Amino acid sequence: MALLDVRDLSVTFSDHHGRRRVVDGLSYSLDAGGSLAIVGESGSGKTQSALALMGLCGPTADVGGSVRLDGRELLGLPWPALQQIRGQRIAMVFQDPMTSLNPYRRIGGQMTEMLTLRKGLSADAARTECLEMLEAVQIGDPSNRFTQFPHELSGGIRQRVMIAIALLGRPDLLVADEPTTALDVTVQAQILRLLADLRRAMGMATLLITHDLGLVAGLCDEVLVMYAGRPAEQGPVDDVFARSLHPYTRGLLHSVPRLGRDPGRAPPARLQAITGSPPAAGDAGPGCAFAPRCAYRFGPCDEKQPEFAAVAGSRRVACHLESPP
Ligand SMILES: Nc1ncnc2c1ncn2[C@@H]1O[C@H](COP(=O)(O)OP(=O)(O)OP(=O)(O)O)[C@@H](O)[C@H]1O
Ligand code: SF4
Ligand SMILES: [Mg+2]
Repeated sequence: MALLDVRDLSVTFSDHHGRRRVVDGLSYSLDAGGSLAIVGESGSGKTQSALALMGLCGPTADVGGSVRLDGRELLGLPWPALQQIRGQRIAMVFQDPMTSLNPYRRIGGQMTEMLTLRKGLSADAARTECLEMLEAVQIGDPSNRFTQFPHELSGGIRQRVMIAIALLGRPDLLVADEPTTALDVTVQAQILRLLADLRRAMGMATLLITHDLGLVAGLCDEVLVMYAGRPAEQGPVDDVFARSLHPYTRGLLHSVPRLGRDPGRAPPARLQAITGSPPAAGDAGPGCAFAPRCAYRFGPCDEKQPEFAAVAGSRRVACHLESPP
């Protein structure tokens, strides 16, 4: 049985302008210890789809479909049960650690309280475990870091601290939402490599959310590309890179400057950007949301939304070219 099984997930916001479905028809599963990257442009619904797993989309959101963790349905669970799962089974790391860390408290206090309050450890035992975790995320001189405030740390160290805090609960699943976007390219690569190493060492599954398809190669097993709130293409990373099936993925790959596993590799001579911009999630018309930007657009594309259908082995794609209507 999969660790996480997401079926037909949807997130719909309602306000005085009406209803807008910003995530629609998203399905995927993740095995224990596995890794999936969800990739898409800004506004494609990545963050809301991750927040929906844990009931964090807020009171104006209506979340539909099914999210099962080890077979147990999470959608609709009461708040205390969800909080327990968030602390113990699923942990999240976000883009900006400054919003998650308390600026007025030393790193040591913020870390140890996770263990003293949640797990009932003594102060000494909690300190030992936290220092070990700081070492695991490759922070030098951890006892010195313990006494520092968040603003005294570089962005990269702050993000490592957030990862360490997330891992203190020994989660089965780590959800990392654009964990390196605020960092410079070299530090980004270090943190992503660290996440991949920790995943293997600790055997936890990872859901990595990023707008940068170039970051995914070599770090995740599977990739799911989202467009305007819907899944466009999914498959093993190597297969998708070797032969993408959706015109949008193909466009993304052509506009990626750092293709492949070597971040230092020179970019191709000419990068092709995808012209136009995506509709906001939930604002697409009746047909394929990518149609206005698609060079392969044909008859049915404007009229019928393509199904996210299984093709060739473990691949799935939502395009009329692959599964004619
Ligand atoms: N609380 C909210 N109420 C209404 N709409 C929202 C709310 N939160 C997000 N949205 C809308 O949902 C859509 C998807 O947002 P989401 O944050 O999931 O995108 P994203 O793919 O994570 O983008 P980014 O790469 O910029 O983080 C956007 O159009 C956004 O404006
Ligand atoms: S369904 Fe049509 S418009 Fe959409 S990606 Fe496929 S060919 Fe392009
Ligand atoms: Mg986001």
